[in-house]
Amino acid sequence: MSLRLKPLHPVFAAEASGIDLTRPLADSEVREINAAMNQYAVLVWRGQPLTGQQQLDFAKSFGPLDLGLKKVFKRKERLEDEHLIDISNVDAEGKVAGRDSPKNLSNFANQLWHSDSSFQDPRAAYSMLHALVLPSWGGNTEFADLRAAYDGLPERTKAELQGLRAEHYALHTRILLGDEAYTDDQKKAIPPAVWPLVETHAGSGRKLLFVGVHARQVIGWPTAESRMYLQDLLEHATQREFVYRHEWQVGDLVMWDNRGTLHRGRRYDIAERRELRRTTIEDVPEARLMAA
Ligand code: OGA
Ligand code: MN
Repeated sequence: MSLRLKPLHPVFAAEASGIDLTRPLADSEVREINAAMNQYAVLVWRGQPLTGQQQLDFAKSFGPLDLGLKKVFKRKERLEDEHLIDISNVDAEGKVAGRDSPKNLSNFANQLWHSDSSFQDPRAAYSMLHALVLPSWGGNTEFADLRAAYDGLPERTKAELQGLRAEHYALHTRILLGDEAYTDDQKKAIPPAVWPLVETHAGSGRKLLFVGVHARQVIGWPTAESRMYLQDLLEHATQREFVYRHEWQVGDLVMWDNRGTLHRGRRYDIAERRELRRTTIEDVPEARLMAA
């Protein structure tokens, strides 16, 4: 069977079906999925009964796996494979994490608009998030299309953005959330990464506005002016017309291209369990991101 796509939003995002994600992918299927990702940037697969290993294998068909912040925070983890990222409010012992726990700090950081791992080089290409346990209300995930955001900029801003670059820093969101107790070694463990504010998306040839909450400084600009500019651009990029809101069902696998979208989690009652698992691919030359 081959890939079927049903658009979910006027500018991006589609529901995908017709390929069995629990089995090894044929090269032709990898290319078909890449072509769909180039077009839609977010793909939603419903009713996927994936084990952790099957999710890892699916992800690895697109490239090497990313560890994100696990390089800095060497904490005890619930999930065995370090490449399977535990997006949950459950602690290493399996209990719902405390309100002020490090686990929930990460979850609150995920509720700010971001591109996974944009604070490191290489950054993330695709992320894939699989839902296992959901709370009774809230906890949606929203996605914003950075290509549509670029297209929607005033011409004056497009011209002004040419050649500008921004520094993305791993602990910026944590610090924004009031968590500042990091050792110098932790602060230095991930040096900031610098990305152009305007880029051309390799797979679609479309220009995009690469912002997000990890961006803390426009290179060469004063800090206050930088932060306001980045804030304005982020506000532009995340207008409702560029946003798809995903309402999770157990068994959903949502994959997105971090090089062309932002995402954020939405609020829920953190006394209730929410358990998802993420795999993320590094944006490196050996990744298999070529399309059909
Ligand atoms: C992520 C993320 C948001 C959410 O998994 O990378 O940002 O809704 N998740 O859990
Ligand atoms: Mn994320």
